[in-house]
Amino acid sequence: MSNVKLELDGKTIELPVIEGSEGEKAIDITKLRAETGYVTIDSGYGNTGSCTSEITFLDGEKGILRYRGYPIEQLADKSNFVEVAYLLVFGKLPSASELAEFNKLIADNSELPEGVKKIIDSFPSDAHPMGVLSSVTAGLSAFYPELLGAELSASEQTKAIAQLMGQTKTAMGYFFNKTQGKTPKSTDANLDYSTDFLSMMFNKDGEVDADVAKALDVLLILHADHEQNCSTSTVRNVGSSHANVFATISAGIDALWGPLHGGANQAVLEMLEEIQNDGGDYKKFIGKAKDKNDSFRLMGFGHRVYKNFDPRAKIIKKACDVVLEKLDVKDPLLNIAKGLEEEALKDPYFVERKLYPNVDFYSGIIYKALGIPTNMFTGMFVLGRLPGWLAQWKELRESGARIARPRQIYTGATERNYVDQNER
Ligand code: ACO
Repeated sequence: MSNVKLELDGKTIELPVIEGSEGEKAIDITKLRAETGYVTIDSGYGNTGSCTSEITFLDGEKGILRYRGYPIEQLADKSNFVEVAYLLVFGKLPSASELAEFNKLIADNSELPEGVKKIIDSFPSDAHPMGVLSSVTAGLSAFYPELLGAELSASEQTKAIAQLMGQTKTAMGYFFNKTQGKTPKSTDANLDYSTDFLSMMFNKDGEVDADVAKALDVLLILHADHEQNCSTSTVRNVGSSHANVFATISAGIDALWGPLHGGANQAVLEMLEEIQNDGGDYKKFIGKAKDKNDSFRLMGFGHRVYKNFDPRAKIIKKACDVVLEKLDVKDPLLNIAKGLEEEALKDPYFVERKLYPNVDFYSGIIYKALGIPTNMFTGMFVLGRLPGWLAQWKELRESGARIARPRQIYTGATERNYVDQNER
């Protein structure tokens, strides 16, 4: 691919153009500062590629999402969450024996050390589950000193990955049961990931409805990776300092917590409840979302990269119908959600800004129907996103990337002399 020419201060420099396998193009500015003294500014990183990656491709204009080349629609329809996790982490669909081995590794590493259970026991029952998960994942580092080195062998890396997937699932079930005053149930190695999770959460010994477990599995698949979003970029940033994988994932959890990111699924449900309590007039809230003097935003709408229907939202809507029918739930919030969506999709404000429902718009209704409390919704996102974070961390560490260290343009005071206190 040819270079581009940049003229700065009367000097012309050539910058290479790199092209991805799907035709995406980037100007490589690695040498810009050394050759010109200039840096670039890109608040929110909307134009900045932080890495090359072989994991996930998404085209926000066309509404395309693929993991390792496989369309999300096919994976949601035909695969399962652990197989998708294997695909993301190792780059290929596993053979039957590879998948069985990976499933077993996760199951064998799902129990929490007693010390971690004590940490969870010490949280108040109204603690936000995201704070608990962040503490638990960072806390795991204390119990596995052999996995803290900067250079893990392939088998250590795989063990750490399986462990984080299994133990985070167990921590969710353990904490939830504690908050309900119940005895947490152990993980069952004979159950698939989603059935085991639902069984741990609700103490149903193997009595989890297969269609409901499948719907949850689909939800986890849809959340499994989304290239360089806020939490994944955090994982890469922290991982680039060679911090251990437990600390790195803990940082990803913290970044996901925000309502503009993974926290949106909790915020959507709270918004729907607010509309319901206000009498159910969703059109009034569409008006509030458009009013620039009102800080209200339509949660679950809009996306930094999707300027078309989020392909995941379409699949989730279907899963939502399955779960509500199977569990015989008639949730009035669903009518409010459908009404909001219908209104917004024909309103010029949302049309012009290309604001469509995102992955979180309907997921909360499913979680609610499953009996998961609202403040645990973002924790569900953590379970789904873990394989993506781990795959991106693995790719980063194997690429030998430099430590992430952006520049800035300083706009503060220029040099001035210290003023003694009695002279201020
Ligand atoms: N409701 C009302 N207006 C909105 C919304 C919304 N949900 N989202 C964007 N807009 C408007 C903005 O006010 C802005 O309008 P303007 O051009 O008149 O100033 C325009 O659309 C562009 O919005 P930005 O905030 O610049 O878009 P950005 O890419 O920075 O933000 C984000 C994306 C954070 C997702 C935003 O759309 C939002 O806050 N959505 C609600 C929260 C949400 O659902 N987050 C989950 C995202 S998916 C995920 O992380 C899993």
